[in-house]
Amino acid sequence: MKPQGVLIAGNWKMNHTPKETEVFFEKLKIGIQSLDALAKASLDNEQIRVCVMPPMLCLQTALTKTKNMKVTIAAQNVHFEKKGAFTGEVSGPMLSELGINTVLIGHSERRQFFGETNETVTKKINSLLSQGFRIIVCIGETKAERQHQETESVLKKQLDAVMSYQALSQSQSLVIAYEPVWAIGTGLTATTKQVEEAHGFIRSVLTNKFANKSGNIAAQKISILYGGSVTVENFADLLHCENVDGGLIGGASLKPENMIEFIKIAARSSS
Ligand code: PGA
Repeated sequence: MKPQGVLIAGNWKMNHTPKETEVFFEKLKIGIQSLDALAKASLDNEQIRVCVMPPMLCLQTALTKTKNMKVTIAAQNVHFEKKGAFTGEVSGPMLSELGINTVLIGHSERRQFFGETNETVTKKINSLLSQGFRIIVCIGETKAERQHQETESVLKKQLDAVMSYQALSQSQSLVIAYEPVWAIGTGLTATTKQVEEAHGFIRSVLTNKFANKSGNIAAQKISILYGGSVTVENFADLLHCENVDGGLIGGASLKPENMIEFIKIAARSSS
């Protein structure tokens, strides 16, 4: 049983059109309705939480389709400024007016292809926390960094950027996603040993960030998700790992039937 429950977060990346989004949620709704009592109860009491991150253009459709469902719709990215001359960007106030209150920040694809750095990640976290958002922030090492035994130092640097003074005081709004870059979209999942080591390290860094005793409890309460080639085949094993509080799932989250399977697996693992 995970103290903070299990979070199943689906990151669609640049997949699914608005029409495909409609179909996805219609199927997801039917799938949720046909879940057994245990899984349904886990969704109702939020022991299992489901979050889906469609592309910006599909957010409105997703929100409309999930009005009476226990599913959170989140954005995959956001700018740290509230408005201004930033062509192609979307701001926090725009998202919150739509009804979005959760955002993904610092995904490795944003870092790799769109020039995001630990500095911009910090700016985004501070800005969005002060606007009242809940944040899922991604950290993780590249293959070369792992090969050079730099995993822990890279994670520490990224966590230092994430856990600003403001983030420490609003830690209840933060979720950390550990995503080894070499495992994303490659079919190479980290071994449970690698996952437990990394998640244990992240938990210890978080604990050290909070100086006092009540802060230790705050560190324990931060959910740490694993991401990187999560599938319906490996999710149960990953959930059994200590300090894994759910999954950030890319490719496998695109099919509603997989999402239903992830919910069933989470329900079994927390019973
Ligand atoms: P993947 O993506 O599950 O397709 O590896 C995970 C992610 O990038 O969030």
